[in-house]
Amino acid sequence: MNLDLKSKLPDVGTTIFTVMSVLAAECNAVNLGQGFPDYEMNPELISLVDQAMRSGNNQYVHMNGYIPLREALAEKVRLLYETIIDPDKQITITPGGTYAIYTAITSVLNPGDEVILFQPAYDSYIPNVLVNGGVPVLIDLKFPGYRIDWDEVKSRITTRTRMMIFNSPHNPTGAILNPEDISTLRKIVKDTNILLVSDEVYEHLIFDNLRHESFLWYPDLMERSFVCFSFGKVYHCTGWKLGYCISSPALMKEFRKVHQFNCFSCHTPSQVALASFLQNTQSYTALPSFMQGKRDSFQQMMAATRFTALPSYGSYFQLYMYDRISDESDTAFTIRITREFAVASIPVSVFYLSGKDDKVIRFCFAKKQETLEKAVACLIRV
Ligand SMILES: Cc1ncc(COP(=O)(O)O)c(C=O)c1O
Repeated sequence: MNLDLKSKLPDVGTTIFTVMSVLAAECNAVNLGQGFPDYEMNPELISLVDQAMRSGNNQYVHMNGYIPLREALAEKVRLLYETIIDPDKQITITPGGTYAIYTAITSVLNPGDEVILFQPAYDSYIPNVLVNGGVPVLIDLKFPGYRIDWDEVKSRITTRTRMMIFNSPHNPTGAILNPEDISTLRKIVKDTNILLVSDEVYEHLIFDNLRHESFLWYPDLMERSFVCFSFGKVYHCTGWKLGYCISSPALMKEFRKVHQFNCFSCHTPSQVALASFLQNTQSYTALPSFMQGKRDSFQQMMAATRFTALPSYGSYFQLYMYDRISDESDTAFTIRITREFAVASIPVSVFYLSGKDDKVIRFCFAKKQETLEKAVACLIRV
């Protein structure tokens, strides 16, 4: 049968994350490749879900999200970023951060619109732009600091530039936007109609007392931004696939038009549980030091290996160069150390459309202390 199928994403295949996880399982390797915790989430949050289900919160909830949860999030935003958000018009609960990003892009992008994004990039951005007929305009972050070259950004803006996508704290590098980045961005977009997506799924996972430069701090950026978050990432339950988007009322109206006919409403009991969990500010204020403890411990142990650390200021990723060990390509190297030394990681070249290879690999340190110790004991032999 000829179905005359014209793929909307002809170049998309199986991602390296799947490949490495399969290989890790085959080799019985410690998996520091994929970005998820191997420790348990907070039992209190589990009990709250149980309680929510037992008290009958098992039917569709409001399309935009459980109202007390949106109110709790607005209060969190007021406390953390000194910004007043209308929970009725500016917050929508989504099935994960990725969905929030996809919906944001889909709700405003038209065929031929250009979208500036930075590489290495989280793998969903480019397909999200392409599936909507947009044109990705790719800018490499400057190696090895992974900073944005703002002169290049200015030179790549055209009359067709519709959107820019940012991600801080950044996957895969652990880089963060600093106040100078934000002030340059504010100047660049002022008096333009450029829209912004700010992927802040690693909000709270930021170290060394640095401030998270959320777009929520800046009313002029908020007017043109979709700011996307993930409960799964910050509460150690990636399998929940629950997140949210905060935007201006005008942009949120468009966002909800797409959301309404795609997922409509998200898992009710988790939303009821999170609404009470968030009442305790410790549920998020304790997160930076918790994750920094893991970063510090991993870095200290890794100092005994021949890998060279690049700084990680946020997220739960840490990059390492292996120039003192090998000149293999990063993909060949990660496959070999998984096979020979039983530790899986991710080659950073996969986060570039061009496959740019700076011989850097990514480890995820959101793991139990014993998992990190086991991995480092193997990596010391490399
Ligand atoms: C930068 C970035 N954005 C979004 C996501 C996905 O978040 P969620 O699982 O809530 O869809 C990830 C997950 O790896 C990520 O690294």
